[in-house]
Amino acid sequence: MPTPILEARRVTKVFRSGFITKHELIALDDFSLVFSPDRPTITTIAGESGSGKTTLANLILGFVSPSSGQVLFEGKDIWKLSKAEWVTFRKEVQAVFQDPYEVYNPFYLVDSVLETVVKRFHLADTPAQGREIIINALEVLGLRPDEVLGKYPHQLSGGQRQRIMVARAFLTSPRFILADEPVSMVDASLRALILENMLRLKNEFGISFMYITHDLSTAYQISDDIYILYLGMIAEHGDVNEVIPNPKHPYTQLLLSSVPNPDPDLAWEGTIELPPEDTVRLQTRRICRFSMRCPYVMDVCRQSAPPLYEVGPNHYASCFLYRDHPIKGSAETNGASGEVTRADGNGIRAATTERTETDWPDPNRPSQEAASSER
Ligand SMILES: Nc1ncnc2c1ncn2[C@@H]1O[C@H](COP(=O)(O)OP(=O)(O)O)[C@@H](O)[C@H]1O
Ligand code: SF4
Ligand SMILES: [Mg+2]
Repeated sequence: MPTPILEARRVTKVFRSGFITKHELIALDDFSLVFSPDRPTITTIAGESGSGKTTLANLILGFVSPSSGQVLFEGKDIWKLSKAEWVTFRKEVQAVFQDPYEVYNPFYLVDSVLETVVKRFHLADTPAQGREIIINALEVLGLRPDEVLGKYPHQLSGGQRQRIMVARAFLTSPRFILADEPVSMVDASLRALILENMLRLKNEFGISFMYITHDLSTAYQISDDIYILYLGMIAEHGDVNEVIPNPKHPYTQLLLSSVPNPDPDLAWEGTIELPPEDTVRLQTRRICRFSMRCPYVMDVCRQSAPPLYEVGPNHYASCFLYRDHPIKGSAETNGASGEVTRADGNGIRAATTERTETDWPDPNRPSQEAASSER
């Protein structure tokens, strides 16, 4: 198998707080995912608010360090990249966030958010060449350069601002774009346009996407693979055409019961009520996290956490209802099936280093020595 562009290998993130009463929150638990260079894909990460989607995004982008496990870029741990490798990572792994307005400075023309990237990554030798690259990126995204360049952010629509963000990500010719809720703040017609743009970038330019959303209907429309997260763990994952029409995990079934026939016009509202977070998260590694809400709960569900079972072709569910099925390869299992039985926190490296989103896309990361002394 060729070296993956990006890989999350058994990544766990635990947030710790409190000096006297220690509090641990498992935001993401034993998560694995591979983006292969063979086949560009759009992989959806779906889950309700608090399920760990943004934590995963921050781990993939190197904004926060994993408590255990690794994120690998072209086979190398992103926390062990040299400065030059880090610049390549920043160039090839781009991101689009939910609220583009935060990225714009209201006092500067929108041109500046694009010019900054051209300068930072030395994409052009002359200003004219830089302009040409910017115009090309806008046109690829279906924007008319004369309508958007030379304008202030407030003079553009939310949809235009978000599409400029996608153009900005496209400028560096990335291999991978992480899009965290990219269409949740734009209206329906523009949403379709931005999703079409993503499909086009995948099909014509071979760019893979991690599409983070709480909307299962758009996920079904555009993605190849899907991961359904529940309180930081993978409840179900696989080919979107397997998972959505034929959900196996009781949680996915519950989510999809509000979208009986996957219909692109129906949004998943995510109105399911969660039990108090602490109760669930503190017990997470000893039981199935969904057991308090599951209509099919059995004794075994309260005794250990289910691994991922192979329930169909490229289709996996973390649920004991399928315990007569094969367990997904032990290196990628989820929950307490492998050697990772860490209800007491054993084996989890302390999480210490965090970056902020404002670092993005500055390639001027501290030197390796400085970075390791931060940890
Ligand atoms: N920096 C942080 N410190 C402590 N807890 C955090 C931090 N970031 C996220 N969390 C917690 O981790 C869980 C997952 O959050 P998040 O990844 O933002 O979920 P989502 O994006 O799916 O809404 C939530 O319970 C959230 O409160
Ligand atoms: S493991 Fe048990 S409690 Fe968990 S989803 Fe499956 S049946 Fe329900
Ligand atoms: Mg989020």
